[in-house]
Formats: sequence, structure tokens, C-alpha cells
Amino acid sequence: MDKIRKISELRAAVKSQRQQGKKIVLVPTMGNLHAGHIHLVKQARLHGDFVVCTIFVNPMQFGANEDLDAYPRTFEQDCEKLEAAHCDLVFSPTVTEVYPRGLEGQSVVSVPQLSTRHCGASRPGHFDGVSTVVCKLFNMVQPDSAVFGLKDYQQFMVITKMVEDLCIPVQLIGEPTQRDSSGLALSSRNGYLSEQQLAVAPGLYRTLLDAQSSLEAGNEARAVEEQAKHALSNKGFELDYFNISDAFTLEPAQSGNKEVVILAAAKLGSTRLIDNIRVSL
Ligand code: PAF
Repeated sequence: MDKIRKISELRAAVKSQRQQGKKIVLVPTMGNLHAGHIHLVKQARLHGDFVVCTIFVNPMQFGANEDLDAYPRTFEQDCEKLEAAHCDLVFSPTVTEVYPRGLEGQSVVSVPQLSTRHCGASRPGHFDGVSTVVCKLFNMVQPDSAVFGLKDYQQFMVITKMVEDLCIPVQLIGEPTQRDSSGLALSSRNGYLSEQQLAVAPGLYRTLLDAQSSLEAGNEARAVEEQAKHALSNKGFELDYFNISDAFTLEPAQSGNKEVVILAAAKLGSTRLIDNIRVSL
């Protein structure tokens, strides 16, 4: 597995693969890789011949009150996992390589509407940081396709809209959320949970499943949301949001909506967990 830090070297490596007729698949990550990421790398292999994984902790998507410096950097362990998953190239640029003029002067890719609800309301500017860096990574790697986890459903919809709006020639693949045996969605943040919090955490997914059943039984979205919010606080979560939305616009679901997504974010101590379920009614 090649390890590259410079954009010029990345471009040369990808160009040579493309000249051999290989299809390039990208898996963008911020490192601190877990089984969910490795699943994405293995899926990537099914969609192309040359798998590029990027590891870049993107400062632009962290808010002022979010601890960028504390984000775990585990490059050596990540590379071992990627090598075992048969990744072909890992690109891990420095912040200066990605933002040579700093963040202040950086052009911003901003996806309206979708970016301001849900996590975007709690983390202003977060999705501008995500769409800008993903756009840059697409331009650096120029992949044929790119694989993302659907645990970050809103992120996937924001990136999908960016790709459509800006005519970026990349096929997006959204992979279902990977869960442990308790139903807890795999996330780098699970590593911050105490033993006690780990016992409570699967309650987020269980509440989503209960809400799904309630919707399928014909209950009205706003009533289901209220019930779920109470359930989460009774379980010990500090609620951020629990929203039943149109699966494509992410606007509040209305009666008659056939495709909805239930999106939830809640804290256990200082750890913020997110999860979601798509429901066809
Ligand atoms: O989902 C993530 O890990 C990040 O938001 C991404 C897509 C790699 C952009 O920094």
C-alpha cells in the first residue's frame, strides 16, 4: 500500500493507474478507523480496481467549541487496518497541503437548505467544511466513485446535492450503517463512552426502531417525535434533536410522505452520538 502526503504525488500515482484502465474508488475518512470504515474500504473494492483512502482531520468542519486538537490521530494503526483490507493507496495530506492559504481565504462550497437543518443547526458551518473538503478531495483524487457511510445520512445528502449541483463526475455509493451486536452504530466517538454510557448508548437505535414501528402503525410524525424525545431523556440521553423528515429534502415529514428518514442526535456526557433509520411508508 502506497502512503502519500503530497497532492502532486497523489495525482501522478492515480494517473498511472488510470492509464492502465483502472477504475479509481475513493473512501474519504478522518482516520481513527474502526470496523465501519474497513467495511467501506472492502465495499470500495467491489466498485473499482484501485482503492484510495484519505485520512485528513479537516479543521474546516470543526466548530470553535469543538476540540479539533483532541481528535484522535492514529495513523500507524489506521495504515495496518487499511493494508489488511487491501487498500491500494492512503493519502494523508497536511493541513497546509490542503489549505495552503489558511482557512480564512479559502473558497467555500456551501450546499443551501440541506446544510442548515439537524446537525447543521447544532453545528453551524460544519457542512460547509465537509462539502468544501470533499469537493477538494474529489478534485485531488478525481475518482470514478466514492463510498460514504449512511450513518452520516445528512452528510451523504449534502454531498449528493453538491455533486449534482456542481456536475462533479463521481458516482456516490452510500453504505448501510454498521452496528455492533447491541445495535449501537459503529462510530469513532464510541471510544469516548464509559462502560456505563456504553450500556445506555444502544437505546438511541432502539428508540429509532420504536419510532419506525409507531410510524408504520400510522401514527403522526410530530406525535412520534415527541414520544421518542421523552423516551430518550428517560433513558439518560441529553437530546439534541429527533426529527422525522422527508428522506430527500430533509424538511419535516408531512402526512403522505412515502420515504422518510428519522434522524437523531443525543449526548451521553460530553459524547454526541448520531443515528438514523430510513423508512418507506
Ligand atoms: O465522514 C467523515 O469522516 C468526514 O466528514 C469526511 C467525509 C471524511 C470529510 O472530512
